[in-house]
Amino acid sequence: MEHLSVLKKDVQKYLNLKGGEIVVDATLGLGGHAEDILKSIGKSGRLIAFEQDERNLDEAKKRLEDYKKQIDYIHDNFRHLKSRITGRRKSVSTKEAQIDAILFDLGLSSPHVDDASRGFSFSKEGPLDMRFDPHGELTAEIVVNTYSEEELTKIFFEYGEEKMSRKAAREICSRRNDKKFSTTTEFGEFLETILPRKRSGRASKTHPATKIFQALRIEVNDELNVLKETLEQSAEILKVGGRVVIISYHSLEDRIVKKFFKSLEKPPATEEQSLYQTHGDPIVKKLTKKPVIPTDQEIEENPRSRSAKLRAYEKLREI
Ligand SMILES: C[S@@+](CC[C@H](N)C(=O)[O-])C[C@H]1O[C@@H](n2cnc3c(N)ncnc32)[C@H](O)[C@@H]1O
Repeated sequence: MEHLSVLKKDVQKYLNLKGGEIVVDATLGLGGHAEDILKSIGKSGRLIAFEQDERNLDEAKKRLEDYKKQIDYIHDNFRHLKSRITGRRKSVSTKEAQIDAILFDLGLSSPHVDDASRGFSFSKEGPLDMRFDPHGELTAEIVVNTYSEEELTKIFFEYGEEKMSRKAAREICSRRNDKKFSTTTEFGEFLETILPRKRSGRASKTHPATKIFQALRIEVNDELNVLKETLEQSAEILKVGGRVVIISYHSLEDRIVKKFFKSLEKPPATEEQSLYQTHGDPIVKKLTKKPVIPTDQEIEENPRSRSAKLRAYEKLREI
């Protein structure tokens, strides 16, 4: 299994690690960024690594075998970031949590897309699944075959920004009355027949099913709510001077990241309007003026990096 880590140099630059630091990799994947982190923090450093996909976790463990004494592996959704960390360090209150840096490299890893049986790709025949955690209860098949027309319209519009969400939902509901959808290719081909390839008068390069597949994946894994909740937790467990680096792969995630940290860069003056104790003083400082994006060369070598946007922040004061 292989996954080319995205924006490797920039991740290390903005994590700005020193020997002995305690770092959270919230999205371990196959451990590419984690390996760089471990090199930077040295033998006295510690890595707390979250990964909800068991297979990726096992692969990362093999890759990071030489560093195993320095790593706490947490097979869990990063939405439990704060409780899993403060639970492990019982003597540490949230205010005193000693996390020096946190990395989020959101979304899918290459094995998710390459392995047809995970059901993420409309170009490879597999079950309509799309769960990051194969033990999760909700699958894309359940969403497609049981959600109401209204619910489907809403998720296609909100999570896929699909302009033809209503038409897609209506056609899906009418077709599933005759025969339920069960495979990715069958569903993708159906979408191709009902959605135009031409958008705004021009032939689009993206497959007509792209946005709807994105919407289903977000719904199945509750990705946007998980991200919102976890960003708050990350601001709480980071120590003053600590850094958080986030790589997102679509505009919905990037918007959530930008909006959340903006509220900490310029918190409102009163506590009623704010999540945290506030006097209007900034809680974080932005380290990346603009989001950092891959170079043309990186995109050529790793086309999956093309939509990546990296933002980084430093915590300035206790909250
Ligand atoms: C883009 S990959 C990370 C790749 C990794 N940085 C590397 O260099 O190999 C994202 C990983 O995060 C995991 N993931 C996504 N959402 C998660 C969540 N809410 N909790 C825990 N892991 C998550 C996915 O299963 C996937 O393995």
